[in-house]
Amino acid sequence: MTSIKPLIAGNWKMHGVKAALAEVEAVKSRVTADSLNEHADIMFCLPATLLAPAAQLLTGTSVLLGGQDCHHLVSGAHTGDISAEMLADAGAAAVIIGHSERRTDHAESSKDVALKAQAAHDCNLQAIVCIGETKGERSAGLTLNVVKRQLRASLPNTVTSKNIVIAYEPVWAIGTGLTPSLNDVSEVHRVLRAELEDIVGSIEAQSIKLIYGGSVKPGNAKDILSLANVNGALVGGASLKSEDFLGIISSCKI
Ligand code: PGA
Repeated sequence: MTSIKPLIAGNWKMHGVKAALAEVEAVKSRVTADSLNEHADIMFCLPATLLAPAAQLLTGTSVLLGGQDCHHLVSGAHTGDISAEMLADAGAAAVIIGHSERRTDHAESSKDVALKAQAAHDCNLQAIVCIGETKGERSAGLTLNVVKRQLRASLPNTVTSKNIVIAYEPVWAIGTGLTPSLNDVSEVHRVLRAELEDIVGSIEAQSIKLIYGGSVKPGNAKDILSLANVNGALVGGASLKSEDFLGIISSCKI
């Protein structure tokens, strides 16, 4: 297995006004002072309104920016939506696609997700595609079937190891403080890697970042990030405070 630099991506969701950029600034300062970017790629997926000012703040640093969703079209009469081109123009290098909150709140299907990921690729944005089972699906023993099905249906055929990140986020672990056992995370990531090998070929699949999300905190990050086939984390709540986020980033210094 090629060694993959982990990605620690913060997902701020619908949190944060300009004053919250002080947290981004604090992370930037520590990352720069302690060269934390040698151990991990660090990204903030911010509300769209904060991308341009954050881009200014992060100019000349290695800290990356991402959006949280994009429309599948480049432009048009779609009030309230945002295109991949707009995110790229504001300074994003990536965009989260198909987060479970989008799949639930906006009834996004895996087919929609694939179209959005394709739109991201067309604008040279990396697509962070999220998949994960619900509590009911896990209890029914359907986890592996669900994530395999979602993975295949959510990927456009423009996928390469560079333009995609897969985030395994069990829906029941998001924002709840609950996490699957380490064995369960390992098992899902192993199966996803094997699926990716089948989809894009084994060489390309070895370099795809497979990250875990769902109640990642400074206290559990090291154990999760040490697992084989876990190449980083998508962090919600704990990315809002610089100290917590830095605690997670620091656990990549293994
Ligand atoms: P959480 O969110 O870390 O607050 O559980 C993760 C996510 O939704 O990406």
